Amino acid sequence: MHKKPTRMLTILGASILFGFSGSALAQSPIVIKFSHVVAEATPKGQGAIKFKEVAEKLLPGKVEVQVFPSSQLFGDSKELEALLLGDVHFIAPSLSKFDRYTKKLQIFDLPFLFDDIAAVDRFQQSEHGKALLNSMQNRGLQGLAYWHNGLKQLSTNKEKLTRPEDVKGLKFRIQASDVLEAQFRQLNANPQKLAFSEVYQALQTGVVDGQENTWSNIYSQKFHEVQKTIANTNHGVIDYMVVTNAKWWQGLPADVREGLTKAMEEATQHSNNLAAELNERDRKLIAEANGAKIQALSKEDVTAWRQAMEPVWKKFESGIGADLIQAALKHNNQ
Ligand code: LMR
Repeated sequence: MHKKPTRMLTILGASILFGFSGSALAQSPIVIKFSHVVAEATPKGQGAIKFKEVAEKLLPGKVEVQVFPSSQLFGDSKELEALLLGDVHFIAPSLSKFDRYTKKLQIFDLPFLFDDIAAVDRFQQSEHGKALLNSMQNRGLQGLAYWHNGLKQLSTNKEKLTRPEDVKGLKFRIQASDVLEAQFRQLNANPQKLAFSEVYQALQTGVVDGQENTWSNIYSQKFHEVQKTIANTNHGVIDYMVVTNAKWWQGLPADVREGLTKAMEEATQHSNNLAAELNERDRKLIAEANGAKIQALSKEDVTAWRQAMEPVWKKFESGIGADLIQAALKHNNQ
């Protein structure tokens, strides 16, 4: 009679003790999913890893960041919807992939608009560029940062690729962007919108003849193994906007949002510092590999591409805003 209550008390005490050292006091971390479509050995892949490292260091026990590269969790066609549904918390689509959410970001797809990534960076960091981070709030998307990849090169399964007439009638994979569609129509080629994860196979099986991408994407996806020529056109840019679900972001505890903002700043710097280096490394690796040859272009060749593609600007000027285009152009040649 005497023993029973003691044992009960002990059990109670133990469970209280466990409770205190376990779930009752220490709250479980907020699980944050960051999904993207490229390989880890790319500027975006490295940026996402850095974000995880810094966020978990600044917010110990408060957040757990899970990074899913290579379309493992969501591919191009699903990631924006998944973000709005709350199934993923950070994504970093290329600026070309926001067509359905705002026309303003089409500015980044205008061929030959920016001289180089330094000019792109200056525009992104300007008042106009920063305002674009908020341009999709009415659609539930909050932009947090721009991450660089690099300038695009054009590749095909043909030997000759120096002038615009060389792509006449060819099929090209493009990202989901109306500007890019118009760009290839302007070249008398046939564009086809395809998710990034499907490009290698489409090139390999001849569903498309060519594509446009950065050196780091071409190398990490092995596109050079299923293409004959990569022309060094630098005709456009692939950069990213890291976006989150605006409602989820506002609903976070203030200290968590602050820590994540700091982590994003560090990750942005890390990724942007690496971008040029990784693209240069991958350009060299492609040149040394036994795949597509890299076609250098003369000044006259580049002028021919520019003249062939530039008429596209007029078609999208009213949606983007002539003022915004003028503001972007001011950042060239500084
Ligand atoms: C592409 O679809 O070609 C790129 O946007 C992929 C990426 O995220 O760099």
